[in-house]
Amino acid sequence: MALEKMDIYYNSVAETYDDRVRRATTDEDGYIVRMAAAFPMKENLNIIDLGAGTGLQLKPLLEKEATLRATCVDCSGKMLARLKKNLADYSDRVQVVSADFFDHDFGFEFYDGATATMALHYYSEAQKLQLYKNLRVGIKKDGFFLLTDKFCRSEFERKRTEARQPEGHYYTFTPLTVANEAALLFKAGFAEVQVCWAKSNTAVLLATR
Ligand SMILES: C[S@@+](CC[C@H](N)C(=O)[O-])C[C@H]1O[C@@H](n2cnc3c(N)ncnc32)[C@H](O)[C@@H]1O
Repeated sequence: MALEKMDIYYNSVAETYDDRVRRATTDEDGYIVRMAAAFPMKENLNIIDLGAGTGLQLKPLLEKEATLRATCVDCSGKMLARLKKNLADYSDRVQVVSADFFDHDFGFEFYDGATATMALHYYSEAQKLQLYKNLRVGIKKDGFFLLTDKFCRSEFERKRTEARQPEGHYYTFTPLTVANEAALLFKAGFAEVQVCWAKSNTAVLLATR
C-alpha cells in the first residue's frame, strides 16, 4: 500500500478523530488522563505542543491551570481547525502554528516545557534525534519534555519499515522501545528521563533539560 504524507492522512481523518480518541480523555488508563497526571504543572508555564492535533490533550491542562499558555504546532490544517473549535474557550492562551515541527524554530531557551502526545512514533531514530536536539535548545534550563506515545517490545519491524521508507514524513508506525527512546533523549542532551507510566504499548516519559 502506498504511504500517505502525514498532513494528507490527518486532513482525511480530522472529522472523525475526536470520536476515536475520546475515551483517552476519560478512561483511567487513557493516555490523555495519564499524560495530564504526569504533566509537571506550575503557574505561568509557556509550553509548545508538537503535533497538537485537535487539542483534546491540551484541554485538561488549560482547564487545570488558568495561567498555562501553549503554542500548538501541527502540519494538518484540518486538525488545527478542530483544535480552534475545541479550545475556543482558551483562545487567548493558545497560539496555533500550521507547520511541520521538523521545520519549526524553537528559539533559544524560550519554552518552559514541551509536550508531544501520540505524534512521534512515525519517525526514524535519526529524524527524532535531530528534532530532540532542536527542541532541547528551545527549552529553558530545568524545563521539561513530556512525551506520550506508542512504543514497541522489539524494533525488528521498525528497522524493516524504516529500510523501505522514502525520505519525508509519512503516516507509518516506527515506534522505538521505551529504553531506546530514553537513550535517544539522553543522546540529544536531556539530563534525566523518568517513565511516569507505561501500559501495553503506551507510555508517558518525562525528560528534563
Ligand atoms: C495521533 S495525532 C495526535 C494528536 C494529539 N496530540 C492527540 O493526542 O490527540 C498525531 C498528530 O501529529 C501531527 N503530526 C505528525 N507529524 C507531524 C509533523 N512532522 N509536523 C507537524 N505535525 C505533525 C499530525 O498531523 C496529527 O495531528
